[in-house]
Amino acid sequence: MNPVNGAAALAATPAAAPAGAAHITIRGLSKRFQGAVIYENFDFDIPRGEFLSIFGPNGCGKSTLINIVAGLIPADAGTILFGGKTLKETKIGYVFQNYREALFPWLRSVDNIEYPLKLARLPQAERHARVERLVAHLGVKIDLKRYPYELSGGQQQLVSIMRALVVEPEVLFLDEPFSALDYEMTLFMRSQLQRIFMETRTTTVLVSHDLEEAVYLADRVLLLSRRPARVADFPAIGMPRPRNDETLSDPAFVAVKGHCLEVFQREVRKG
Ligand SMILES: Nc1ncnc2c1ncn2[C@@H]1O[C@H](COP(=O)(O)OP(=O)(O)O)[C@@H](O)[C@H]1O
Ligand SMILES: [Mg+2]
Repeated sequence: MNPVNGAAALAATPAAAPAGAAHITIRGLSKRFQGAVIYENFDFDIPRGEFLSIFGPNGCGKSTLINIVAGLIPADAGTILFGGKTLKETKIGYVFQNYREALFPWLRSVDNIEYPLKLARLPQAERHARVERLVAHLGVKIDLKRYPYELSGGQQQLVSIMRALVVEPEVLFLDEPFSALDYEMTLFMRSQLQRIFMETRTTTVLVSHDLEEAVYLADRVLLLSRRPARVADFPAIGMPRPRNDETLSDPAFVAVKGHCLEVFQREVRKG
């Protein structure tokens, strides 16, 4: 299957999966770091085809959660399944916080994006074709023959996101992907990410330390408690897409963001 057809088919039927149907099931997750309990028997379902933001107090275990789910670090106990499949049987994409360290500086942008396809031993013609389709599909206007250092921070992060998408992941993970960018670029990247989500409807899990960003992008927000992390709340964000600058001052948006802030502050005060 090619990325364009696959994504278009999904985009054409956004309501195919009932809202809230589980894609990733996390059961009995436990994790400690040097005796500090981060997770203790934690259960959670990540909905299929939705955009989930994770927000919570600093150091509560947001990165730890997605790193365990994405297989970057081991859990002490627990089971995580992707529609009943194991991680090994599932294609995932992961976008790191620090794009400067995430891209290979000696590879042109296009070769960075093709890299996972090379690992998967796809022939060169097929690799080129896939990247071309992805570029056309996303409407990306970067000169991908350039090396990462020749691009702005936002463009580099866009290249990182494309590298994660080129494998047609079933789940896309992003850990504070815009935190190293200036505010203008952050706003631009938010709208790009929303566009990518609307085009592909890939199950997306974003860790953000910016509540406005977390709510703006999400179908649901996982609000975590202080350690050991529990689900403090899991509100649905019912705002229609595409969301834009006007969304930010919409009373419904302001209300749900206010609710998230209240839950967050209650958790912080407990410490
Ligand atoms: N590799 C590690 N070794 C020891 N402690 C760690 C490690 N990774 C994270 N921690 C600790 O675990 C807690 C949760 O970390 P993290 O998931 O990164 O938090 P955040 O919610 O800010 O992303 C923090 O107190 C952090 O210091
Ligand atoms: Mg973190």
